[in-house]
Parts: sequence; C-alpha cells; structure tokens
Amino acid sequence: MKLVLIGTGYVGLVTGACFAEFGYQTVCVDKDKSKVKNLNLGKCPFYEPGMDDLLSKHLNNTKLLSFSSSLSDSMKNADVVFITVGTPSRRLEDDADLSYVWSVADEISQNIEKYCLVVTKSTVPVGTSKEIKKIIAKKISQDKFDVVSNPEFLREGSAINDFMRPDRIIIGAENKKSEDIMRELYRPLYLRETPLVSTSIESSEIIKYASNSFLATKIGFINEVADLCEAVGANVQEVSKAMGIDKRIGSKFLNAGPGFGGSCFPKDVKAFISTANKLNVDLSIINSVHSSNKKRINRIANKIIENVDKKSTLTILGLSFKPNTDDIRDSTSIKLATLLNDKGYIINCFDPVAMNNAKIENNNLNYFDTPYKACFNSDAIIIGTEWNEFRALNFSEISKLVKKKKIFDLRNIYNSIELEKIGYEYYGTGK
Ligand SMILES: NC(=O)c1ccc[n+]([C@@H]2O[C@H](COP(=O)([O-])OP(=O)(O)OC[C@H]3O[C@@H](n4cnc5c(N)ncnc54)[C@H](O)[C@@H]3O)[C@@H](O)[C@H]2O)c1
Repeated sequence: MKLVLIGTGYVGLVTGACFAEFGYQTVCVDKDKSKVKNLNLGKCPFYEPGMDDLLSKHLNNTKLLSFSSSLSDSMKNADVVFITVGTPSRRLEDDADLSYVWSVADEISQNIEKYCLVVTKSTVPVGTSKEIKKIIAKKISQDKFDVVSNPEFLREGSAINDFMRPDRIIIGAENKKSEDIMRELYRPLYLRETPLVSTSIESSEIIKYASNSFLATKIGFINEVADLCEAVGANVQEVSKAMGIDKRIGSKFLNAGPGFGGSCFPKDVKAFISTANKLNVDLSIINSVHSSNKKRINRIANKIIENVDKKSTLTILGLSFKPNTDDIRDSTSIKLATLLNDKGYIINCFDPVAMNNAKIENNNLNYFDTPYKACFNSDAIIIGTEWNEFRALNFSEISKLVKKKKIFDLRNIYNSIELEKIGYEYYGTGK
C-alpha cells in the first residue's frame, strides 16, 4: 500500500514515520517548503523523543519514507491519503478553523486517478468528513474514492509509543470496502491485540471531541477540588490519590495544576461547545469546564501577586505546555509569564527544549540556558511544567543564588516539608 499524509505537524509526521516502521511506502506532504527541505535532510521540525532516529532509519536506510511539497506528484498511485493538517480555533471565535481541511480536500479532488481512500485524521467537528466527501465528489465519481474518519489520540512527548501502542483505533466508515482497507492498514496493531472499533463517521468524529472534553473535565474538576482543599487546609494530592484508587474513577488526569493548555484540549473543548451550540444542544458541563479553566490562570497569578512584591524578579521553570515537548501552543506557563510581566514583574525563565519557540511568542522575558542561571537574584521560583529536570533541583545550590527563598510549585512535584526545612516559603496547588 502506498500512503500519503498531508500536513507534517506532530500528528502527520509521527503517523507517517510509524507507518513506514510498519513497512508501508509513505510520503509526507507539507506546503511549507523549508520544512520539507529540512525533513529531507533528516531534521525534525519539533522536539519529540525518538523521532530523529525513526526519521533517519526510514529516510536513509529503508527509504520507505519521503517528503514532498507537491501533492500532485505524491498522490500518483496512492492507495490511502490522510488529512493531518491543523484545525486551530478560528481567530476570535470558538469554532474550529477548517480552512486547511477544505483546501486539502479540494487539492485531493484534483489529483485522484485510481481508487483512493481519503482518511480524516485531523480532529474535525461532526459532519466535516461528509463535507469533504461532497467537495471531492464535485470532481471525482463516487466509485473512485471513499472517505473515512480515523481520529488520532497520540500525545506529544510520548507520540511514537502512543501510536504504536494505542488503547484503541477508531474507524468511522460508510461501507465495508473502506473499513476493510483500514483494518488491513492497522493489521500490525491488531496483531498486538489493539481494539479496532468500527463506528459511523459521525460517531467517530464525536468520539475524539468527547474523549478530549472528558479528560479536560477531569482536570477542571480536580483543580476546583484543589481550591477547596486550599481553603480548608486539606491536601489535594491525598484526595486525588484516594479517589484514583477507585477503578471507576482512575488515577489519570487527576493532578491539580495551573489549568489545561496545549495544542488540543483548549481548542477542542471550544469547538465541541460551538458545534453543540449550532445544533441548539446545551453542553452545560463542558461549558462550565471551559469557563472554569479560563479563570484559573488569573487565580494562579493573583496568588503569586498577593505573596510577592511588585517589580520583583520571578523565575519560571518550564515553558512548554507539558514535559517532553517543545510545543507552547496555549501553554499556561507562557500565559502566566506574560500576565505577570504585564503587571511589572521581571520574568527569568528556562525550559529544556521550548525556549526558541517561547522567544518567538514573547521576547520580553529573560531567557537563561540553565535553571540555576534563571534563579539568580530571584524573589520567587515558579515550577510551571513538571519536566524531569526540575524534580531533583539542587536547592542548597539554588539557595545561594536566589534573593528570597520562595517557591510556587504549580505542579506539586516537591515535598513542602523538605523545602520548608531548608527555609523555603512553599506554595503548592491545593495543599
Ligand atoms: N498535536 C497533537 O498532539 C494532536 C493529537 C491528536 C490529534 N491532533 C489533531 O491533528 C491535527 C494536526 O495537528 P498537529 O498538531 O499535527 O498540527 P500542526 O499545526 O503541528 O501541523 C499541521 C501541518 O499542516 C501543514 N499544512 C497546512 N495546510 C496544508 C496544505 N494545504 N497542504 C500541506 N500541508 C499543509 C502545515 O504547514 C503544518 O506543517 C489537528 O486537527 C489536531 O487537533 C493533534
């Protein structure tokens, strides 16, 4: 089978490289020519553990993977074409910007020669795949293509492992022919006993948004419980640990923190609400989660402002929206840094891999190349992202560098008693 992936972002590139690992001839297409040029040199455009090796293996050794900026060349003899372009929020709106998807659908329609399966892997609102089908059907007869929905659930930071060992594969298909092609494509995973769940196209599209919204709800829920814990002197870590032991609840996504950010949850929650609004369906629970999360960063900022004098220097450790990625889209650390900087604080910061992206986003912050340098003369340290690098910082060393021994551990990675013992004023989240 020859596969084509259109859009070489986190999803398209990881998926393409993993399909090459399964043994498929795979072409990844992107309209960004400099990205394609670098990819052909084996340079991954983002930080993702394991990607450099996988790229090099299939670009140079097996030669199963190639990159192109020409969709028409790439689509020659293609059996399956994946749409993996971005679906960000529309500017100043909550719904998903589908302009990249529509333009790709149109381009595909101009390049289908023999039967081809078109797979929507981008996260798209319910009804989108059927619209893609209509766009293609304007130029191509119905017997020459099918459209399938196959949402992706990989997480940045563990993307290769997530793709290779997913909890499930969703196949939203309209007919047996297209479903069979998808089952054949994912046969290497089926052999590992990954459940392949067949649904309608509409259900498949909703499964992705419902899953992300549910996970966001767990985070929003525990964050509000954390606020209550703070008010009464309880410890949210004890609460979530005990809750998580209950198998009906589960321990994942029950860590209190500065709110959910990143390239998926915020935009997907908004798009889910927006889709429901258009259909006059009230998703009141997820609506509350969205507004609670929006308020959270101000609450965190206020807690810092109440406890640190104006014009002080703050050190923020961790800028990516989560560890093991350089993605700063909707990062709570960047939002917090910007908010506090606007209030007159001087912000020193450090991140193991996301600083180049952060500098483009906000060049008013001071960037340092080690966490220790970022702590020099600091009035308070803020742990923004729970990178492993920050879990065992040398606080005797840091004590010699900082002006004041104060720490806001937004991710609860430190033991307050140990830090208090060496003279730190410790502020956790929900404890
Ligand atoms: N990032 C994640 O962790 C993740 C996880 C699951 C699902 N998703 C979903 O997958 C989709 C892609 O997300 P991403 O983070 O990989 O996006 P991204 O923004 O990192 O990459 C999108 C790529 O598509 C390219 N592109 C846009 N229009 C194009 C066109 N006409 N032709 C060729 N290339 C084009 C862009 O140049 C860019 O390189 C989104 O819908 C997202 O919600 C993302």
